[in-house]
Amino acid sequence: MDAKWTFTLLYSISSLCFATCLMCTKCTNIALLFDNPVEFPLTCEANFVEANVCQLVFHMNYLTKQIHLNLTGANNTIGNYHIDLLVENKSDEPKIMNANATYICKTVTDCAKVFYKLTIQTLIKNEPILKELQAALYDPTVVNVQQCSNKQNQPVTCQNGYGCHGVEIIENGETDFEGECRNASTITIFPRQYFRITLVQGDPPLSSDWNHLGFTCNKNNLCNSQQEIKKMVILANDFYPWEFIGLNASTKKFVNNNYLLLFP
Ligand SMILES: *[C@@H]1O[C@H](CO)[C@@H](O)[C@H](O)[C@H]1NC(C)=O
Ligand SMILES: *[C@@H]1O[C@H](CO)[C@@H](O)[C@H](O)[C@H]1NC(C)=O
Ligand SMILES: *[C@@H]1O[C@H](CO)[C@@H](O)[C@H](O)[C@H]1NC(C)=O
Ligand SMILES: *[C@@H]1O[C@H](CO)[C@@H](O)[C@H](O)[C@H]1NC(C)=O
Ligand SMILES: *[C@@H]1O[C@H](CO)[C@@H](O)[C@H](O)[C@H]1NC(C)=O
Ligand SMILES: *[C@@H]1O[C@H](CO)[C@@H](O)[C@H](O)[C@H]1NC(C)=O
Repeated sequence: MDAKWTFTLLYSISSLCFATCLMCTKCTNIALLFDNPVEFPLTCEANFVEANVCQLVFHMNYLTKQIHLNLTGANNTIGNYHIDLLVENKSDEPKIMNANATYICKTVTDCAKVFYKLTIQTLIKNEPILKELQAALYDPTVVNVQQCSNKQNQPVTCQNGYGCHGVEIIENGETDFEGECRNASTITIFPRQYFRITLVQGDPPLSSDWNHLGFTCNKNNLCNSQQEIKKMVILANDFYPWEFIGLNASTKKFVNNNYLLLFP
């Protein structure tokens, strides 16, 4: 059997969906506005591919009020759904304020577009919650913080601290906190002042849950204590509509117990 034929055969097998085929809208490089987020171009209507999962990728820019999205189908194996959502604001350089998400599903016909239509209005409408989060963390008039919480949640004195860094990570049900002072000598991959909300969630076989709220705050001394981080998590949870995810009752309970998962 020659190599080219083998390649073609393998390629064909990997791109088959057989009995599990769904119809998914295929529509790429779409730009929509916050004012009219579900007004798809005509070329997207009734433009379907057959696949075993439907897929959505979108970038929302809260500064330009634009959404860029791709809808398509793929022949991959996943659980019923998988979502990866990231929201970020860099406070002292207001050039970035966006939410990016990937959503993959095989729950119902055209499930990725259905999810988009159910969710996008809420992500737009909830922008004020992000502003509340920002206001709770960051005061542009504050130059220095004196005290932050460390990783053990104990107060430490900062030298020329511009802010306190706080993180809560929940990974497969295990919660971890981080905390420290930030000053000019701190070397970090994170922006100087920012917050970031990450939710990665799926059901088996891709059941990796990875949820994270990270921020630098300067609003008060000890603004990164575990108690403060938990308050921010609750606020961030209000941003994202859990009820739209196709979770069953036991999964929902799990989400509530950790109160965050997305942090949102
Ligand atoms: C998935 O496989 C089916 C055949 O089973 C094929 O008709 C379809 O075009 C494939 N879809 C994609 C997006 O590759
Ligand atoms: C959509 O797909 C195009 C081409 O594949 C890519 O250049 C673009 O970045 C994608 N957009 C999003 C929002 O993922
Ligand atoms: C979202 O995607 C855009 C375009 O790829 C990128 O510039 C931006 O940094 C992303 N934002 C986040 C929070 O990942
Ligand atoms: C993002 O940061 C900028 C600069 O501080 C601020 O003006 C804006 O309100 C923030 N946006 C949100 C949604 O927090
Ligand atoms: C930053 O904090 C560290 C530890 O608290 C301290 O050793 C260092 O001198 C500080 N850097 C500046 C520029 O103040
Ligand atoms: C609900 O989700 C849980 C956790 O993913 C799973 O163990 C359980 O089998 C699911 N139940 C039903 C009825 O789908």
